[in-house]
Amino acid sequence: MPGPLLETLKGSKQEIAPVWLMRQAGRYLPEYRELRAEKGGFLELVYDSEAAAEVTVQPIRRFGFDGAILFSDILIVPHAMGQGLEFLAGEGPHLSPTLRDVDLADFTQAKERFDPVYETVRRTRQQISDSVTMLGFAGSPWTVATYMIAGQGSKNQEPARLMAYRDPARMQAICDAIIEISVEYLRGQIDAGAEAIQLFDSWAGSLAPDEFERWVIAPNAKITAELKSSHPGTPIIGFPKGAGAKLPAYARETGVDAIGLDETLDPAWAHASLPEGMPVQGNFDPLLLEAGGPEIKKRVHTIIEAFEDRPHIFNLGHGIGQFTPIEHVEELLEAVRGS
Ligand code: CP3
Repeated sequence: MPGPLLETLKGSKQEIAPVWLMRQAGRYLPEYRELRAEKGGFLELVYDSEAAAEVTVQPIRRFGFDGAILFSDILIVPHAMGQGLEFLAGEGPHLSPTLRDVDLADFTQAKERFDPVYETVRRTRQQISDSVTMLGFAGSPWTVATYMIAGQGSKNQEPARLMAYRDPARMQAICDAIIEISVEYLRGQIDAGAEAIQLFDSWAGSLAPDEFERWVIAPNAKITAELKSSHPGTPIIGFPKGAGAKLPAYARETGVDAIGLDETLDPAWAHASLPEGMPVQGNFDPLLLEAGGPEIKKRVHTIIEAFEDRPHIFNLGHGIGQFTPIEHVEELLEAVRGS
């Protein structure tokens, strides 16, 4: 029996919205912090399939979420393309050398880096019940490219946006390379047991309209078409964070099955603007969850009511913050499941 999350992604409205949270495995959980300290670092954890499967399952055990998202990172793709990757404590990711300084051809692919990730999916699938949906993911080409070009998180993604204007052919080659390897990676995750896929385009929001068409809609459409040709039954959730008014075009043109909504969107607007019957996911503000209080319940009800006539997966509008109290997550779940 497929669980309620997978049913929702296939277009069937559930009486109680299934729920999972982006970044649900992570630093707000003491059991995560403990295992991370034991393994010595984030990448050590990702590439240790036994530990990564344990971290994937931790939030399911504690909260009974309807989906388990593979514990990995969108930057494993650049690592497998041959770019150096480090996560320095408190500093975020560093990739080197950057695609400002060298060409893709200077990298030596290391696709064997995907193998432990596939093994994490297999191990997790064995540890969760059939009603919990196993979610795989990848970063979308634009978002991954912003890190490969700048070498780290960058203000307004300026280095990548400048490259896209100055040398669109170079940017196209980078996106095409990311598309090709990501399709292979996602097929591998599905073959290992992922039942649905999310494409994270976390920095989609910084692009001008024509640029959004070229670097967000087109690459996500290509990945979706490729996956549909080999794995037509696996739903794809597109999450173009910050897309705003460009969201309906993204929903119509990419071919994704469901749309992740960030917290800046009015759910009533989203319902009125997206294709009828298309499943949506979101969009509770992660900072309201961190802050807590009676607003939690009110906001949960506003979101659920807005999507009364549409398949809806309850989630945050972005990843859960590391300082979020666990009791607030419990309150959120109570509000969703009790409403
Ligand atoms: O959602 C999950 O629980 C699954 C695992 C997951 C992680 N990262 C684990 C992680 C997923 C799906 C991601 C996606 C990801 N990674 C995105 C897209 C979604 C988003 O949040 O916008 C992006 C942009 C990244 C890149 C990345 N990874 C950054 C910028 C950082 C540093 C900032 C931070 O939050 O620490 C990471 C590190 C990272 N990825 C952590 C986790 C649990 C924290 C690492 C640690 O334990 O120190």
